[in-house]
Amino acid sequence: MGSSTAKYRPGTQTRKKVTTTDILARKKDEKITSVTAYDYSTAKLVDTTGIDVILVGDSLGMVVLGYPDTTRVTLDDMVHHTRAVTRAQPRALVVADLPFLSFGVSARDTVRNAGRLVREACAEAVKLEGGVRVREEIRALVDCQIPVMGHVGLTPQSIHAFGGFKVQGRTQASADQILRDAVAVQEGGAFAIVLEGIPAALGKRISRELDIPTIGIGAGPDCDGQVLVIHDMLHLFSDLTPKFAKVYADVGTSTRDALERYREEVRDGRFPAKEHCY
Ligand code: KIV
Repeated sequence: MGSSTAKYRPGTQTRKKVTTTDILARKKDEKITSVTAYDYSTAKLVDTTGIDVILVGDSLGMVVLGYPDTTRVTLDDMVHHTRAVTRAQPRALVVADLPFLSFGVSARDTVRNAGRLVREACAEAVKLEGGVRVREEIRALVDCQIPVMGHVGLTPQSIHAFGGFKVQGRTQASADQILRDAVAVQEGGAFAIVLEGIPAALGKRISRELDIPTIGIGAGPDCDGQVLVIHDMLHLFSDLTPKFAKVYADVGTSTRDALERYREEVRDGRFPAKEHCY
């Protein structure tokens, strides 16, 4: 698509920001890559790799704050963590989640709450869960110049309504509803949409039907991009291990090994050594 974000070559990274229009233009181009980050150091590390989108997901409620699900995350939590990420001044597009009930009540409140993520936390776009029921709120945000990423399928904020973290869209009726939801998100003016926890065939069908890029997490290989929770891919969180969460590095185990060596070295007097002293 001719955008300088389309091809990333390690060591030749220009600082041109990835924008929502770059992401929109990637629909028929190179796959979009995204991971979550919730703090400054992780955002800096992620940004050295050429990942396109940093998502400050409300998954932070589970993997950072220790809640059993995402419904307890507050807007203040999201502002705090998004601010930490944007302080890293990443080249990647920074998208922040609107947490449970910070939208879906009234368009006026939705715009005010999203405005905090943009103005106070410097998010460049917001993400919200839902389809047909949030179409007008997406439109209101876009009218106020706040870019929106949608999110349909296994939307974690609906866990109580779903009766658990269950793959959605397995029946024809449910698959058709998820497609209608995705279309509604596009009609509202979203620049991209996350498809979560749905059969791969449905991920393919929605990706074909929509003009905006789809970013999958447990939605198969035919989405226009993929997103993972960084704590899952680095094995830093094991309370919940969904099938789609490929572990790319067992940082959890190497962290524990390092801590055990540190404890032993302190106990037996090997740390600090001469080179660590003034
Ligand atoms: O909160 C989050 O991290 C998300 C991803 C799972 C897409 O919404």
